[in-house]
Amino acid sequence: MSDSYLTIEDLSKEFKREGEPPLRVIDNLSARVEDGALLSILGPSGCGKSTLLNIINGLDDVTSGRITINGTTISRRSRSAVKIGVVFQDPRLLNWRTVRDNVRLPLDELKVPRDEAEERVDRYLDLVGLREFGEYYPLRLSGGMRQRVSLARGLAIEPDLLLADEPFSALDEITARKLRMELIRIWQATGRTIIFVTHNIREAVFLSTRMLVVTARPATTHLDLPIDIPHPRVPEDDRLFEIEKEVTRDFIRMEEAAE
Ligand SMILES: Nc1ncnc2c1ncn2[C@@H]1O[C@H](COP(=O)(O)OP(=O)(O)OP(=O)(O)O)[C@@H](O)[C@H]1O
Ligand SMILES: [Mg+2]
Repeated sequence: MSDSYLTIEDLSKEFKREGEPPLRVIDNLSARVEDGALLSILGPSGCGKSTLLNIINGLDDVTSGRITINGTTISRRSRSAVKIGVVFQDPRLLNWRTVRDNVRLPLDELKVPRDEAEERVDRYLDLVGLREFGEYYPLRLSGGMRQRVSLARGLAIEPDLLLADEPFSALDEITARKLRMELIRIWQATGRTIIFVTHNIREAVFLSTRMLVVTARPATTHLDLPIDIPHPRVPEDDRLFEIEKEVTRDFIRMEEAAE
């Protein structure tokens, strides 16, 4: 078995509320992510997936339990130990900066030398098919193009761990499909670990080496399923359809049981 890179142990998270009991969003969730895994987290809307990513990213505190990366406990105060890249559902670009500047900004923050930073901006814009749009401002791009800029920005820092929060869900299927293929190519080329949140079962099955299905709020593990089909995969592979069908049935049963 490969080493556990990231470990989630008995994690619970509550948000305090005025005049009401706290809102429990994650409940005793445990999981292990192997080094180089592509783990997808699948769960109903509002169950706590983005909250979990925020905690892994050191942007939010746990209520109890802990998360370790390479043996170091993650907290809001110990963020810098691991280089984490993030791609959100919405692009979150600076509209007053050009596309190039948006992708280069995190590299400047990491003090990547100017020449190398420029070279990486070119490379990652190329990768997402936006080389010619470097001098554009975000508001002149389509929604899908903006999302591709945000993917380039997340990848350009060459993170140890990439957190992707439904990055393709607002894209048309053909664009999403192309970017999934690109993501796999980059993942295979770099061997880095990716945690990918989605509520698209087909996407999760296609991408991941392991799938963690979590329950409706508060999120806890419902199913932890390795997907042992080698990459690169063909989207139309019957084995993937079979897994998708099983997970879909199981997901529906889980939702029905919760009602
Ligand atoms: N900072 C916060 N303060 C209070 N409540 C919060 C905060 N952030 C999230 N929540 C609540 O926690 C719950 C889980 O939110 P979260 O964004 O993690 O869900 P999600 O699984 O990512 O949903 P979706 O699939 O729709 O993106 C929601 O009920 C949300 O209102
Ligand atoms: Mg979310």
